[in-house]
Amino acid sequence: MRKPLIAGNWKMNGSAELVETFGRAFAEVDLPSSLEVLIHPPFPYLDAARRAFANTPLGLGAQTLNPLHSGARTGEVSGQMLREFGVEYVLVGHSERRQLYRENDEQVYDRLIAALSVGIKPILCVGETLEERDAGHTEDVVLRQVGYVMARLEPEQRRQVTIAYEPVWAIGTGRTATPEQAQQVMAAIRRYQAGFDRELAEGLRLLYGGSMNASNADELLAQEDIDGGLIGGASLKVDDFIAICQSAG
Ligand code: PGA
Repeated sequence: MRKPLIAGNWKMNGSAELVETFGRAFAEVDLPSSLEVLIHPPFPYLDAARRAFANTPLGLGAQTLNPLHSGARTGEVSGQMLREFGVEYVLVGHSERRQLYRENDEQVYDRLIAALSVGIKPILCVGETLEERDAGHTEDVVLRQVGYVMARLEPEQRRQVTIAYEPVWAIGTGRTATPEQAQQVMAAIRRYQAGFDRELAEGLRLLYGGSMNASNADELLAQEDIDGGLIGGASLKVDDFIAICQSAG
């Protein structure tokens, strides 16, 4: 059985106070033990989050990392540093990084390898733009993004990867993929993985992301190939985020 995962991506949002609010709320909330929950706060809040989340079910994720362990890379943060602050997971290939910071598949791969090399589990984000969907290229685009990385990994490395399917047109727009649209692409990703190894495909955790919220989480998470969610906007509101976690339990 795949363990459901709900990951909150705060992006460049939140505050020290919000970290405390989440720590307090999640210390009291009753979530099924089968569920894994993460918050990916901005870098400056990682240490405070580690302390605030200590007695809660919340795990810690980062939003990106540099492929190098150290060096002259002004403004960057390495996997080794994240590890020191208790980070367990990191997002790689988020569409905002691909689009705004021009990260290509090769750079996404380098970051993913850097994460694995320090024992941080990568969440590989993939997804098509509206133009690509309208042109009928959704599966090609998504499987290219998945394949570029997965084909270069050793079987043991592949097992560490979670994949988040996030249609770019659904991120932060309030426009969610229908459960059927999401399921179709996610089933294609699982089939693709089965080409490497059936057992791996069965165990692969697939998250949906893109305007998931407390009202639509139930029907998205009910889909056969959706094992959890990567939540942006709704992960900044503690009650909404708890409601989504409860939908996944
Ligand atoms: P959203 O963001 O939930 O605000 O659409 C999701 C994401 O970018 O991970």
